[in-house]
Amino acid sequence: MDRTLTFLGIETSCDDTAAAVVRASGAARPEILSSEVLGQTALHEAFGGVVPEIAARAHAERLDGVVEAALSASGIGLDRIDAIAVTAGPGLIGGVLSGVMLARGLAAARGLPLVPVNHLAGHALTPRLTDKVEFPYLMLLVSGGHCQFLMVKGADSFQRLGGTIDDAPGEAFDKTAKLLGLPQPGGPSVEAEAALGDPQRFRFPRPLLDREGCDMSFSGLKTALLRARDALVAEKGGIAVQDRRDLCAGFQQAVAEVLAIKTARAIATVADLRPTTLAVAGGVAANRAIRACLETVSAKAGLPFLAPPLRLCTDNAAMIAWAGIERVRAGLTDAPDFIARPRWPLDQAAPALLGSGKKGAKA
Ligand code: KG4
Ligand code: ZN
Repeated sequence: MDRTLTFLGIETSCDDTAAAVVRASGAARPEILSSEVLGQTALHEAFGGVVPEIAARAHAERLDGVVEAALSASGIGLDRIDAIAVTAGPGLIGGVLSGVMLARGLAAARGLPLVPVNHLAGHALTPRLTDKVEFPYLMLLVSGGHCQFLMVKGADSFQRLGGTIDDAPGEAFDKTAKLLGLPQPGGPSVEAEAALGDPQRFRFPRPLLDREGCDMSFSGLKTALLRARDALVAEKGGIAVQDRRDLCAGFQQAVAEVLAIKTARAIATVADLRPTTLAVAGGVAANRAIRACLETVSAKAGLPFLAPPLRLCTDNAAMIAWAGIERVRAGLTDAPDFIARPRWPLDQAAPALLGSGKKGAKA
């Protein structure tokens, strides 16, 4: 029987300053005692993307308060924390360092063990935190910064089956919104417009479907959308409300179809490994049309489908605390002088990803 472990988690790898307390006891469902997330959208809004220096400074200024808030909301003090788990990469290095430095200071002051966690492992292990999903399972991580298929085999065993070779889908949604004058973050606003549009009117490309494997590409879609928009402007002097809805619907349909087809391929690729579940994580998993396509693919393959609650699909520190607990339970140990890493692929054997993305390194 596993002993009870209560971990403080810290996450600062992108534009969310987050801290959380998670407790796991034996085989019982782990408890999230608190999870505080302070976003930075307003700080970066004017710049059209996350500015690394602004992000790092904001983390450094706010993390103390966020950690205090998480400890206080959990109802337990630092003296009842068993260890601190901190994101040590991949991500924007200034932000990662802010988190690692604070965690190091706290750990040293309190004599607590420090567990470095890979941010992507946090996302990948979330289905076990929320639903105790058994290894191995297939995960599609789709957010503003990440897009990859992972076979999750253990607390520190991940096989990357493929991913984007350029933009992440969330990034494509955000750029589409910008091109069409819709508010950020682009995903929800494009989805709302798409719901009122005709997905058949504009036929956007479905990149890389002719290429074997699970790699994807989304940057060409944005260029195609730009061309369609400019053609309308040239023809009519501007775009009408219905044009915008149809453009959004066509774009969303293209993303959903690419994700669905590649997911079916990923499922076929790992069939011999008998995954227990298809799980999704990342902000794009909130999109109802995309989720519906993935559910259909999963059902066709006879695989249970899981989308954890959105607050745990997007960046948070509960997933980091949990990934730390998983590492300790699996008997994994880390040198106390670990380094913070801007790039840190989960699957060291897979070829490196191209592109670094607006939110830092993709792996
Ligand atoms: O996981 P997340 O909060 O942060 C990281 O990127 O790490 O994901 C945010 C991304 C943004 O690009 C946002 O536009 C996208 O997820 N997103 C959506 C939807 N809600 C959020 N994309 C499509 N449809 C949505 N409903
Ligand atoms: Zn993330």
